[in-house]
Amino acid sequence: MTALQHVKLGTYFVVHMPEPDDFTFWRERARQLVQCDVPPDRVAWVEPGGNGSLFSHGDRRLPVPDDATRVIRASKRFLSIARNVAHHSDPERFSLLYAMLWRLQSNPRLMEDKADSQVRRLEDMDKSVRRDAHKMHAFVRFRMVEDEDGNEHYVAWFEPDHHIVRREAGFFVRRFANMHWSILTPRGCIHWDGETLRESGPAQKSDAPQGDPAEDLWRKYYASIFNPARLKIGAMLKEMPRKYWKNMPEAALIPELVAGAQKRESEMVDAGAMQFEDRPETLAAIDKAIHACRKCPIGSLENQAVMGEGPDDASLMIVGEQPGDQEDQAGKPFVGPAGQVLDAALETAGIERSQTYVTNAVKHFKYVQRGKRRLHQSPTAKEIDVCRWWHEAERAIVKPKVVLAMGASAARAMLGKTVSITQARGEPIPLDDGSELWVTAHPSYLLRLNGEAKAEQERLFAADLAAVKERLGELVE
Ligand code: URA
Repeated sequence: MTALQHVKLGTYFVVHMPEPDDFTFWRERARQLVQCDVPPDRVAWVEPGGNGSLFSHGDRRLPVPDDATRVIRASKRFLSIARNVAHHSDPERFSLLYAMLWRLQSNPRLMEDKADSQVRRLEDMDKSVRRDAHKMHAFVRFRMVEDEDGNEHYVAWFEPDHHIVRREAGFFVRRFANMHWSILTPRGCIHWDGETLRESGPAQKSDAPQGDPAEDLWRKYYASIFNPARLKIGAMLKEMPRKYWKNMPEAALIPELVAGAQKRESEMVDAGAMQFEDRPETLAAIDKAIHACRKCPIGSLENQAVMGEGPDDASLMIVGEQPGDQEDQAGKPFVGPAGQVLDAALETAGIERSQTYVTNAVKHFKYVQRGKRRLHQSPTAKEIDVCRWWHEAERAIVKPKVVLAMGASAARAMLGKTVSITQARGEPIPLDDGSELWVTAHPSYLLRLNGEAKAEQERLFAADLAAVKERLGELVE
């Protein structure tokens, strides 16, 4: 039967929406129905959990248009309003949108008619959804709980008026990218573990922790991630209009941070941190320059740059990932638990640390604040690549014969690409300055293992150091 025959016969169509907020699904079905000239009073739009049995006489198989290329008229204004209206809680929203789309075919400027009651209703729904989204941005308040593994998890309860939770997830992911959090709502929940966003079904208020919101913590966290070189007031205002700032725990800091930002940025420029043109020619000059480096956001955390340590003519240069908490406090590389593993292994291999230049691929400690603790965060490939400037400058001065890169970040720092430790270890890799690179695991990795796996990795680590020692014996008379 053709689409036209269907319509002539008065077929009634039922569209079951898979999700309450699926604008794309609605748009595809609506286009198909308009192309088949199905008037609004012949279509029922049923949302999940809606009463489809009322329309049991309806046909769930939609007609196929005779001409699927037929152009459908929908003004930009209609589409932008429709995108929001699809999230409204009114069960009639999809029917209303379809009715409007239908009318737009004969009157493409209909959305400009402020006297039209359907236009006004859609505009009110659009406004209400936008207001709800802003409310969610401004009023979500997290409480801290510990999960089964003792990690901090932030949980908030929010009651949206509309189906906006999934849509607004991106805002919270961007704002709290490094935290683990859940937002529970009666319309469904979202969960972020620092990497993946997960959804789950509706929750009740009693599922969320009670007590004081962790606002102090947010403030500290926000101040620690605030990077003056990245300040974009326009973007901040777009995400969160100024009138809502007063509701955000961290907002009290914004005027102060904004005012301080320019000063901090010009200090960085004065210190030469913004230019990478002239490579420092002494280790002392590198040491001074890295303290002012803000080429990546890590330098703007509360930390200090940690310079490499050792003789400026060492034949062996050891490269780790980045300073840890203890190294940051001491201002020296490898003095914490990973340093102890390294020291013990060097001793076993017969390599004297005092004759070795020990440094890191990334000069600042990257962490996320969790209560009083600063938890290590791996640097991104981009951060490692930006920091190459500094260890290459160190290498150009020290001129080691052998470089030992410990762990994937250090290996990337030396080679400019990500390599597998298992594949890269055990053989020298020639470097452009005539020296050679050896790759091994990071001592922190050994600290995280237990039992057989630990024993095996310790054995491989010791074998790598022994090979480096032997090679040094061959290269250095
Ligand atoms: N881990 C590193 O990679 N470097 C240090 O200095 C300490 C721990």
